[in-house]
Amino acid sequence: MSRTSGLDVPVEIVLNRAREAPTLSDQIAHQLRAGIKSGVLRADDRLPAIRALATRLSVARTTVDTAYAQLIAEGYLHTRAGAGTWIAQTLPESATVVASPLGSALNAAAGSSRPLSEHARRLAEVSTTLLPQKQVPLAIIAPSEEMSPGRAWTQIANRFGRRPWRHAGYGEPQGYLPLREVVAEYARKFRGVHCDADRVVITSGSQQGMTLCAQVLLEAGDTAWVEDPCYTLMAATIAHRGVLTVPVPVDAEGLDVTAGMTLAPHAKAAFVTPSHQFPLGMMMSMARRAELLGWAARTESWIVEDDYDSELRYEGRPFPSLQGMDASSESVIYLGTFSKMMFPSLRLGYAIVPRPLVEAFAGARLLADRHSSESQQAILAEYIREGHYEIHVRRIRGLLQKRRQVLIRECERQLHAYGAVLPCDQGMHVVFRLHDHIDDVAVATPLRQGGLELRAISPFYVRNTTMRGFMLGFGGFTPEAIKAAVKTIARALAQHVA
Ligand SMILES: Cc1ncc(COP(=O)(O)O)c(C=O)c1O
Repeated sequence: MSRTSGLDVPVEIVLNRAREAPTLSDQIAHQLRAGIKSGVLRADDRLPAIRALATRLSVARTTVDTAYAQLIAEGYLHTRAGAGTWIAQTLPESATVVASPLGSALNAAAGSSRPLSEHARRLAEVSTTLLPQKQVPLAIIAPSEEMSPGRAWTQIANRFGRRPWRHAGYGEPQGYLPLREVVAEYARKFRGVHCDADRVVITSGSQQGMTLCAQVLLEAGDTAWVEDPCYTLMAATIAHRGVLTVPVPVDAEGLDVTAGMTLAPHAKAAFVTPSHQFPLGMMMSMARRAELLGWAARTESWIVEDDYDSELRYEGRPFPSLQGMDASSESVIYLGTFSKMMFPSLRLGYAIVPRPLVEAFAGARLLADRHSSESQQAILAEYIREGHYEIHVRRIRGLLQKRRQVLIRECERQLHAYGAVLPCDQGMHVVFRLHDHIDDVAVATPLRQGGLELRAISPFYVRNTTMRGFMLGFGGFTPEAIKAAVKTIARALAQHVA
């Protein structure tokens, strides 16, 4: 599905049909506006015809017509009679709150009649559009008893709980030293990262790692490469800093570095997922890694490596990090997280940064929120130091491998008429690639509204959609739940292609 084909929009429009929800046309306008502001929809992109979008969303044509008219009035869209509707080249400097019914609703909800700043409205839109997945099949992360860090975690937490004052003061913005030490050892041993504790900055997860990178490495007006398709929160985080994100295509070898150099030769940074491309799953080839590192060294640009689930390689040892290949140790900021292997609400992760950047990262962390809870850091440090983390990772890998096999088998059995699972032996999700004529968003949207977390692939693309399909998570669900979810998808696909 191409952004320029006019057949589709690269944002997923999800409608809340509850009686108290804003009108459907307001919801459509709101989500398109958010897509434009976040840069997912760009100047001159053509929107689908009213009739096509109305059919897709199962709403009346007047509903879509009203939404488009609202955005035309606000200056986000322009139209030529009979020819179609496009994103405007020049966006409104500041659309007033009055112009946005949902904005008014947000203001009213906040108990204020004061207009919000443009900045505040963008942030409000982030909170209503970039929502985490619901913890229902087939979400990518869905913590459960079996996935939990177990009794060892509870025992260590209880031990610390008996002496709550031990970690009650302000801590180091760079992070609690014993945690930095075990993180450095782990990253060296299992990910081949060049580091010691002095180069580790504890974060509240990769999300904060990306925010700190955007703050420390980039100025408003700079340009940065992001993968196309990419992790939406990553692109939004960088764009929020006023940085122009340039989507660079990925192919079977990962980011196309040559295309990046052509599209944005003066980019200051590249944000990549080389171990497990998000969302498609391939690993960046050695040749591309070398090319990317060469580009960064030559142009003195930065590479941000989001290594979000590399512990979960099912066959053989995990492939070493990109950071570990950087002989100079100067170009790569390596981001790790405990969200996947422990649990997301722990909010702990780490950035391993070139030495000259350590103080800047610590300063940015101090200004953001000083530091993560020191008692949580201390519990995690002890859990890793006593060897429980390695045992936990091995156990989770075994459990997930079985569930992954169930999911792949069920896809082969029930969905073979519609496409195939892409080869990949890593992570907490697989990608089911659909035959090109099947509209992934049209199939996924009603299923999501019906309680299945089915992510369509095409909305992650910014420029040219080269693949349609679904991201299917398997970690938090029993084989029975996985089979039932695949059956629901099979039924929806059968109806769709009928
Ligand atoms: C691509 C990618 N990066 C990073 C993360 C982890 O984010 P965090 O550590 O902030 O929970 C996720 C989680 O879903 C992800 O999918």
